[in-house]
Amino acid sequence: VSFKARVVETGDSIQLARRAYREIALYSPDRSPCRVDISDNTNLFGIPPAAERAYREAAVSTLTRYPQLYAQQLKSALASYAQVSAAEVVTGCGSDDVLDSAIRAFAEPGETIALPDPSFAMVPIFGQMNALNVAKVPLTQSFDIDADALAASGAKLIYLCSPNNPTGTLASRRAVEKLLDRSPGIVILDEAYAEFSSQEGFLKLAPRFERLLVVRTLSKAFGLAGLRIGYAVGPAPLVAEVEKSRGPYKVSGSAERAAVAALTEDRPWVNARIADVIQNRARLAEALQKLGLSPIPSLSNFVLVPVKDAMALARALRQEGVAIRPFQQLQGIGDAVRISVGPWEMMEDALAALRKVLA
Ligand SMILES: Cc1ncc(COP(=O)(O)O)c(C=O)c1O
Repeated sequence: VSFKARVVETGDSIQLARRAYREIALYSPDRSPCRVDISDNTNLFGIPPAAERAYREAAVSTLTRYPQLYAQQLKSALASYAQVSAAEVVTGCGSDDVLDSAIRAFAEPGETIALPDPSFAMVPIFGQMNALNVAKVPLTQSFDIDADALAASGAKLIYLCSPNNPTGTLASRRAVEKLLDRSPGIVILDEAYAEFSSQEGFLKLAPRFERLLVVRTLSKAFGLAGLRIGYAVGPAPLVAEVEKSRGPYKVSGSAERAAVAALTEDRPWVNARIADVIQNRARLAEALQKLGLSPIPSLSNFVLVPVKDAMALARALRQEGVAIRPFQQLQGIGDAVRISVGPWEMMEDALAALRKVLA
């Protein structure tokens, strides 16, 4: 037996991994194929047409050479979408990558990232991967962020999500501004779902604050989760640090071209789909209430529904061919399931399954 094989056999190799990684499991929500998959808050209305055309055209011609170092054309298109300058934009391989890069850029191992509870499940994992302490601060009873408690945590980094995943609720402008006044460190405001909220958010204001980064994505309203394009907007000096941490060549050439096409030509398509989501969200909430459920009022493209036993409900719905996202014992809420809002036929399908399972 060679030396290498022996190490693997005895399991010693795990000792060679970074200490911070040892407790981390691979991200593994049940994503096995399902007839109606309304579990991940993507756009369920199809492909933005100009993006599809650009992607097909670019697919082969971009294969053999490296893409642009820092996706300059995409940055320009995003800058005009966000009404900021290109130096105030950084892109990445999904907003997951942008969040991870930002955390790595600003926090040393052993420092703290604070975030509301509940919020986006990946953030504590990114914190852990970067050897940070994670401080969770419960949302208020009205699902707002607790600005005082977050500021009092003294954390080097504060993560906020608005509309928040999984509650679908907004962080109030007053609370965000208060936090920006009081926070000793950097505030990362994740607006992945902002397009569904009918509110402007902080995107174009971000460069005016000294320590604010607003993170967004093309995975949700723009319907391009498979492209893996995320971005952050903020003051140019902060953005430059995230760009160092992110490194070059993170966005493939074909993804960049499709994303630019979506941003410049597909806006009418995207806006129509957002209007569909807003309409179906209200219809879905009403239908869920008729089933005796109490969905939390949402400003996003999903609704969170408190239930007695989320895992059992998710399993039963899966048997009916419907995938939703279960959450166990969320802070202040208890068990709940998250349902993405899609075309009405899909919602009817899901409601029929729910009716059957709850009967
Ligand atoms: C709040 C929030 N931020 C970021 C992401 C990551 O999205 P992506 O990496 O596809 O941009 C998600 C995905 O579900 C999300 O819910």
